[in-house]
Amino acid sequence: MDIKKRPITKNAPYKIVFVCLGNICRSPTGEGVLQHLVNEAGVEEYFEIDSAGTSAWHSGEPANSKSRSVAESYGVKLLSRARQVVSSDLDYFDLVVAMDYSNKKELLKMAHTDDQKSKVVLMRDFDTTPQDGNVPDPYYGGLSGFDNVFKIVKRSCEALLTELKPQITK
Ligand code: 4NP
Repeated sequence: MDIKKRPITKNAPYKIVFVCLGNICRSPTGEGVLQHLVNEAGVEEYFEIDSAGTSAWHSGEPANSKSRSVAESYGVKLLSRARQVVSSDLDYFDLVVAMDYSNKKELLKMAHTDDQKSKVVLMRDFDTTPQDGNVPDPYYGGLSGFDNVFKIVKRSCEALLTELKPQITK
């Protein structure tokens, strides 16, 4: 994926926000998985990771219990509290990772400058097997849908981190 690159330092950590509809299933999984990978790699001081929702429907809520139990079965803790994305997120963060095309469309509606627009990407832009490009919404389905989300997000976040690691300047 061709994302905007810059030197990543402790003073200027790379800031990433994952965005889905409710901020209780897919984007908290992105936040938790990438934080886990970054911790494992010992580069947590070089990244700031967050998540948000295009809706305010679940603001203040922890991640969905099925999302949390699937993540925990893979050793990943989801610690987010839901919040709605705000237009200043498009300035503050270096990269805004939408979980599906609908989330991306909402984010692009909020983006006014070319710089803001250039920060908006899809999670599955990083996936080696992107299928239709969407991380499917698991909310109304069973555990297997949540497990599928975790696997897609993990694969994509691994590729994202691989792309960013060479930018770290120690
Ligand atoms: P998320 O999943 O966007 O991955 O957090 C959803 C959560 C809630 C709803 C839809 C999707 N909802 O309709 O309330």
